[in-house]
Amino acid sequence: KARLAILLSGRGSNMVALVQAVQSGVLSGLAEVAVVFSNKPDAPGLETAAAMGCPTASRSSQGCKRAEFDADVVEVLQQYQPDYVVLAGYMRILSPTFIRAFAGRILNIHPADTHQHQGLHAYEWAFENQLPETKITVHLVDEGLDTGPILAQHPVDLRGTDTLAEVERRGLAVEHRVYAETLAHLIKQAQPVEHGLH
Ligand code: GAR
Repeated sequence: KARLAILLSGRGSNMVALVQAVQSGVLSGLAEVAVVFSNKPDAPGLETAAAMGCPTASRSSQGCKRAEFDADVVEVLQQYQPDYVVLAGYMRILSPTFIRAFAGRILNIHPADTHQHQGLHAYEWAFENQLPETKITVHLVDEGLDTGPILAQHPVDLRGTDTLAEVERRGLAVEHRVYAETLAHLIKQAQPVEHGLH
């Protein structure tokens, strides 16, 4: 089974969807949660993860230099031997040290088309610009901000939304489904083809 390190900074609704998929959904039999990590020791998502039976770890990034903090996080994560580092609302830009430690194995979910919008507040951006749709994007993380190769994109119909809360509600429902599906697909692709016994 592929070992997942799930990283979050806040609420953790994507983490919950991933853990549920591991426990009884599209990721069951394919993946296990090695650790849920946060750069904010008081992130609500960490407590939720523990309540769901996941190992958890945290280090406070407050007042730390990025490269030093990331070197520390790499060391923590390596103890759990993850195959994939899955960013789920991890609100930090990763330093090259981090990217290189897990090169090609870091995934992120972004609530917009990463060609059109990067960084924070993607739902606000879609709402304020009254976009008829946005595209949830799952991508591999490289050294740029939301520039890595796209693994999957799924449209969210935003027509008829009057509030930011409604935009987010529709978007998150899609996020929760597609992150686990995309990861399942990636893990299956990475598995060696099994030949039947002769
Ligand atoms: C999600 O909407 C995620 O796509 C977004 O943060 C939210 C985290 O919610 N990520 C980004 O904007 C990354 N640029 P969650 O903690 O409930 O999963």
